[in-house]
Amino acid sequence: MHCSRHFLLLLLIAALPFPLEGNSHCFDHQIGKYHANSEFVSKTCSQSCTVMPFFSPDNALEAHLNLFEEAQESITIVNPTFESWDPTCSHNHNQCTKCCTGCDISYYRTGEGFPVFAALLNAINLRNVSIRILTNNYSSTTWPEKATMLDWLAVNNISVRMYKTTYFLHAKYAFIDGGKKTLISSVNYSKTSFMKNRESGVIISQCSDCETLKLYQTVFESDWEIADPYVFDNQYTDDQLKSMRDPAFYPYPIVKPPGERVPDIQTTMALQDFNDVQISGYVAPDNARKTFMGSLQNIQSKLIVHIYAITSAKICKEIVDLKNTNGINVTLLVSWNTAGAVKKYTEHCYRNLTNNGITIRKSSHSFLFSHQKYWIIDDKEVHLSTGNWAESDFPIGKEWPPSKAANRDMLVIMQNPSLVKFYGDVFEHDFKLGNDIPGGQ
Ligand SMILES: *[C@@H]1O[C@H](CO)[C@@H](O)[C@H](O)[C@H]1NC(C)=O
Ligand SMILES: *[C@@H]1O[C@H](CO)[C@@H](O)[C@H](O)[C@H]1NC(C)=O
Ligand SMILES: *[C@@H]1O[C@H](CO)[C@@H](O)[C@H](O)[C@H]1NC(C)=O
Ligand SMILES: *[C@@H]1O[C@H](CO)[C@@H](O)[C@H](O)[C@H]1NC(C)=O
Ligand SMILES: *[C@@H]1O[C@H](CO)[C@@H](O)[C@H](O)[C@H]1NC(C)=O
Ligand SMILES: *[C@@H]1O[C@H](CO)[C@@H](O)[C@H](O)[C@H]1NC(C)=O
Repeated sequence: MHCSRHFLLLLLIAALPFPLEGNSHCFDHQIGKYHANSEFVSKTCSQSCTVMPFFSPDNALEAHLNLFEEAQESITIVNPTFESWDPTCSHNHNQCTKCCTGCDISYYRTGEGFPVFAALLNAINLRNVSIRILTNNYSSTTWPEKATMLDWLAVNNISVRMYKTTYFLHAKYAFIDGGKKTLISSVNYSKTSFMKNRESGVIISQCSDCETLKLYQTVFESDWEIADPYVFDNQYTDDQLKSMRDPAFYPYPIVKPPGERVPDIQTTMALQDFNDVQISGYVAPDNARKTFMGSLQNIQSKLIVHIYAITSAKICKEIVDLKNTNGINVTLLVSWNTAGAVKKYTEHCYRNLTNNGITIRKSSHSFLFSHQKYWIIDDKEVHLSTGNWAESDFPIGKEWPPSKAANRDMLVIMQNPSLVKFYGDVFEHDFKLGNDIPGGQ
């Protein structure tokens, strides 16, 4: 098996509910029990917002770069990972083995393909934007004499911290200039996520007092507060530090890769704003399970789901009940490709759904993964999530000890007829490219 694929599988497994190899994972740095915070409950904005949806592989990269290049004061980034686009530099990253990751120091000057890396260095060095990055610590070490992208960023005065509030940081989130714009998505910082997968996200703006956005910020600040500062494995020499900070190289060239055109797939989708969107949202783990299940119970007639994977048997059963008991018209589109043991759980669920006459398709093989997570309720609201329908993303209970798979995730609910139609169109587009899962198999 090709190496990078292998690592990808491992991360995906990691993000799912079950500690597969015992109950200690390299990324789990939680200390002590996490108690659901009674203030981290669903919030609704009292003003409307502007929303710009984006998708991988179409325009997620463009949306991220636009956002970071626009920042004047601050950039805050939350992502499970921060991977070089050269797989050899992220060798063994995200895998629960100690050694080793990183590339030659000279490489990052001109070689790094991930354009966000350059955009962040320009933001701090040319515009004095203060930057914070919260990510997971996979406990992998850097090769002696080499550096990682995070080393490089940290040396350039970007604050990097390692999440430890709960088991795993699964949210993909960013905001600029104190909340002027907020991004939520399924995109993790890897080349596949931007270029080969279906992913979906939004940038929310024009509502900086929005209570939902304040909730996300409060949650971020509380996670940031207790997170561990980034620790370098290597002691860089003064010469190396000088080279890593050399202002002669600014601005970094932001090379936007041409985009790997995936056959059959709409690649002309232009970024566009939708105004007058009503927003609410919530966070996981905290009170997410209850809020999520409640929102399913409130469905009147129709549910459309476009998601990577459904691994929770309880949530799966809820979908069956929605159809059989509440008479809801349910249509699902899930990823044709899933990682490792994930399949064991999804196939069981999907068989139950087809046995109960629910329409479910698997996505086009043109995507490496269909990793987006959104659902449309009653043709009235779109729910977009950073997590899957998994026990780890919507964990049951009120407190979670270390090693109990409870992910930090964020969800946004959007109401606006044109926006809902837009998501419905993307769903239909992808659904047509997908393949039915035959019933009763
Ligand atoms: C998520 O991140 C991993 C590395 O951290 C990357 O290899 C993978 O492509 C990403 N997952 C998906 C589904 O794209
Ligand atoms: C850069 O921003 C910081 C605050 O974030 C400020 O203290 C400092 O004076 C600024 N430096 C320059 C050169 O503008
Ligand atoms: C980083 O910040 C320190 C002090 O806060 C300053 O002395 C140093 O020049 C800064 N480095 C860069 C690369 O901006
Ligand atoms: C990650 O955590 C380990 C402890 O498990 C620590 O030794 C290491 O320094 C941390 N890595 C970073 C980059 O902070
Ligand atoms: C159920 O919803 C799907 C997706 O929108 C639609 O194609 C189908 O016609 C609906 N079925 C019924 C019986 O309304
Ligand atoms: C599938 O259905 C069977 C029988 O109704 C049930 O026991 C099982 O838990 C279900 N599994 C999932 C994943 O929904």
